[in-house]
Amino acid sequence: MTFTHAIVRQPVANMAAGITTADLGVPEIARARQQFDAYVNALNGCGLAVTVLSPLDGHPDAHFVEDTAVVFPEAAVTTHPGAPSRQGEVDTIAAALSAFRETVAIRPPGTVDGGDVLMVGGHFFIGLSDRTNPDGAEQLCDILGGHGYTVTRVPVADGLHFKSSVNAVADDTLLTTQAFAGHPALANYRQIVVPSGEAYAANTLRVNDRLIMPAGFPETRRLLEALETPIVELDTSEFRKMDGGLTCLSLRF
Ligand code: GLY
Repeated sequence: MTFTHAIVRQPVANMAAGITTADLGVPEIARARQQFDAYVNALNGCGLAVTVLSPLDGHPDAHFVEDTAVVFPEAAVTTHPGAPSRQGEVDTIAAALSAFRETVAIRPPGTVDGGDVLMVGGHFFIGLSDRTNPDGAEQLCDILGGHGYTVTRVPVADGLHFKSSVNAVADDTLLTTQAFAGHPALANYRQIVVPSGEAYAANTLRVNDRLIMPAGFPETRRLLEALETPIVELDTSEFRKMDGGLTCLSLRF
């Protein structure tokens, strides 16, 4: 799928109040803002027009916009995030998306985080995680099936979201952590497995003819270079401290 647009949201000053399991210290907002600006520039460099939303007061995770929607050519599904503190992020995203797509909503008790949803061509993977429950996955499955997409549901035992561990880096190729190496649900795709100690690099983002990967993972970079796709490295240190990464920071469509 060729992307033409992205929606992002600037981080709030108290982003350190967000949810995290990482033991990497407190994020510095000034540095996070620099990293965010570099991210927007990278998306522009991939040919995307980027809608930048203002920080959402009271929602310190709201810059991780990917969790609030699943967007595909025919429609957008706004989610009901699995973390109660994040459920108030959705309304402003629905408003922003309504300029581009018809929107439908996941309803409670179903929960879905967009970080658990990976589109690869005409197929979707939905991770069943602490954030995405079977009811939410069923609702999303029905919506996607109605548009002709096929879906595989995959339990996520490792990492926050499915896309913390698995991402598409080519039409036929997934970049995965070692925990997903040889996973039967991924058998229809070629796999590149990130080396030991570089699991965070599995959260690499493919945008049109480029790969945007987190800086500082040379072994993974070397493996990705075999694809002969231009690679952009970005420093994500401050977002990583809050369990976030490159895919979480935007909705692309
Ligand atoms: N800090 C991102 C999340 O837990 O959803």
